[in-house]
Amino acid sequence: MGCLQVSQKKSSHKPNSDIFAIMLLLDGKIASAAVKKDLLQQTQLIIQSGKRAPHLAAILVGNNGASETYVASKVKNCEEVGVTSTLVRFDSDVAETTLLEAIASLNADPGIDGILVQLPLPKQISEQKVIEAIDPRKDVDGFHPSSAGKLVQGLPTFIPATPYGIMLMLEHFNIETKGKHAVVIGRSNIVGRPMSILLSSNLKRGNCTVTICHSHTPNLKDICLQADILVAALGKPEFVKVDMVKDGAIIIDVGITRVDDPTAKKGFRIKGDVSFSEVSPKASAITPVPGGVGLMTIAGLLKNTLQAYKTNLKI
Ligand code: GUN
Repeated sequence: MGCLQVSQKKSSHKPNSDIFAIMLLLDGKIASAAVKKDLLQQTQLIIQSGKRAPHLAAILVGNNGASETYVASKVKNCEEVGVTSTLVRFDSDVAETTLLEAIASLNADPGIDGILVQLPLPKQISEQKVIEAIDPRKDVDGFHPSSAGKLVQGLPTFIPATPYGIMLMLEHFNIETKGKHAVVIGRSNIVGRPMSILLSSNLKRGNCTVTICHSHTPNLKDICLQADILVAALGKPEFVKVDMVKDGAIIIDVGITRVDDPTAKKGFRIKGDVSFSEVSPKASAITPVPGGVGLMTIAGLLKNTLQAYKTNLKI
């Protein structure tokens, strides 16, 4: 297991401390490469056996910069693991009915195993209608209420890619979760809520006691200070500061916000929800941004796509 261990003086918040601690960098490049290597081996065997490759259809509406980047990365990663992908693009003023018709035709196509519609969508389109239009057997994002309900009941289903990727990361770095107090900041259907369900489930990397915090949680800092595992998924750059984190906590940073920076080549920088420079010396393990959870999200999506293919072809 290729985990990078960084030895750091502990720490900037205890300037005179002579204690040294080992901080484990939860490197998404390393963990996602391991997942992708396994997927490529599986697809190569499938193709050698004469079957077609798994096929993902990605729908992108409009030209939101971040969505363009995410979808381009999904397409590229599909190629890297032997998964065919089709990108279906619509202008930002597309009618809801047109989008729903496109989903219906992908649902009916036996050569398509997985469908994802990149979110967010323009205002004229109901995200809920779009999510519910996807055949649950092809719902590789795991956003359909049928998939979400199965997750709650501990039934086999597609796990939303980001929480799935985080579970894969915990597995890759052999992070013990049983009996720990996990605090999840954020209750979105995409990350926070499914993450809280997985961590509390009776799974190898579950069995945590979980607290979910959100915008109406009055004593957020006190709760975060109790976290053995802190998952920050609220979308506010550098929200989690050193005074919110317990010594030795495991920090999972889900944030990927573009923050304007005229000195950067692209005019922006990607910031996580955690102040990495402040928090990392205090943590026992932490994900970087970029290069952490984002890469694992793609790994989760690819695993779901291969699963959808196997179910579709009854392999
Ligand atoms: N927008 C932000 N995260 C995601 C994701 O995981 N899937 C899709 N389809 N859209 C997103």
